[in-house]
Amino acid sequence: MPARDAEFTELIRKRISQLQQLGWYHSIELKDGQVIKGLQSLEHLRFRLAQFPVPEDLTGKRVLDIGAWDGWFSFEMERRGAQVVAVDSHKHKNFEIARELLGSKVEHHVADICKLTPAEFGTFDIVLFFGVLYHTKHPLLALENVCNLATDMAFIESHVSDDGEDPAAPPVMEFYETTELGGQFDNWVGPNTSCLLAFCRTAGFARTELESVIQNRAHVTCHRQWPATQPASPAPFLVGVSPSADGYISIWFRSEQKELNCDNVFPRIGPYGSRPVHVSQTDADGWHVNCKLFPGETEVSLHVRNSAESNRARVGQALGLPQTAKPKIHSVTDGKTWELSRIHSGCISIWAAGLNDDLVKIAINGVYLPAIFISCPDTEGLRQVNAILPASLKPGEARVSLVSGELESDPVTVEVVNDSQ
Ligand SMILES: C[S@@+](CC[C@H](N)C(=O)[O-])C[C@H]1O[C@@H](n2cnc3c(N)ncnc32)[C@H](O)[C@@H]1O
Repeated sequence: MPARDAEFTELIRKRISQLQQLGWYHSIELKDGQVIKGLQSLEHLRFRLAQFPVPEDLTGKRVLDIGAWDGWFSFEMERRGAQVVAVDSHKHKNFEIARELLGSKVEHHVADICKLTPAEFGTFDIVLFFGVLYHTKHPLLALENVCNLATDMAFIESHVSDDGEDPAAPPVMEFYETTELGGQFDNWVGPNTSCLLAFCRTAGFARTELESVIQNRAHVTCHRQWPATQPASPAPFLVGVSPSADGYISIWFRSEQKELNCDNVFPRIGPYGSRPVHVSQTDADGWHVNCKLFPGETEVSLHVRNSAESNRARVGQALGLPQTAKPKIHSVTDGKTWELSRIHSGCISIWAAGLNDDLVKIAINGVYLPAIFISCPDTEGLRQVNAILPASLKPGEARVSLVSGELESDPVTVEVVNDSQ
């Protein structure tokens, strides 16, 4: 070997040996094949990643690596072609050193997942959440943020308190007040595998798949989308949408299909699938479903089994445009029989033009009823607005108007029929 080359190799060897003193969690392979050895070998890191169906080619994708530490997963995502943002609640100097040595363009920020929202760095096709959940004091909040940051998939690896062998195990979580887990104070929770999966669903993911549990580490792939289907039966029809407590939404719809449940009703909130937590039948073809509403998303639709997608509705009180002119009622029908200008008990439906504002109410004989459903405009610009009729409504003629923001439509007259007479 020529003297200069030998000198250079010796310099690199010394530099690696100095770097080695810094103490690494991840091993990092440099461009010339030399390896800074960390607590976790390259083989082990590759084995951990191989638990998940992460595409080999990530060209054009944005990836977020949460709790990146020394950054092996971030650099691997970049190697696969992704644009990568790495965050960690602590500033890890080794990440910066590795980034420089690798000539990497991964963005590196200090951020706490319990506070991170898409407002900071946007959303990501893929989110990696490896080895962080059990370090958080508020694990469900952290997972909700992970869900809100992902547009397609999140890969979640966490310590679990069991071996994941019993899929029917009740969901329970251990709490570590001090140093019970691994002698470390920053370990807070140990969900069992059932609990971890339930948390992922509750956080808002449409689908969760348990990939493996190895030595108390569970690997879960979480999807934000329903699988694509070929529509082969008629679309359900949405008749009511209303936000409820804890960031959930109630959807009422009509469908001829039988035995609908949480596994064959597929709500969509904005562009994302939202798994039902409850489905019940209200009458012969009437159904009610509860599912999670996502921040900033107002458009709702659903399909059941392999049906076509329903009509779209907006969550009431969220149209968000200024109301500059009076809304105009086009027609009024019963919300169930669709009879024109004739309403029974239950629900009233109005079709109206020029409906923009946030607050929409139906007034009937001077009583104001909140809208439980506002559809998207049809081809003529008409929106459907539904409200539940008060039980006290008397039979006979009634004056109906529509209020949007500060402005009220001209009234129309309808006939109220009392079915019990
Ligand atoms: C066990 S290490 C996991 C490192 C890497 N993700 C892996 O799986 O090999 C946990 C990392 O998460 C970071 N961390 C802990 N709590 C966090 C939080 N609330 N938000 C973001 N990062 C956090 C820690 O600083 C640490 O770098």
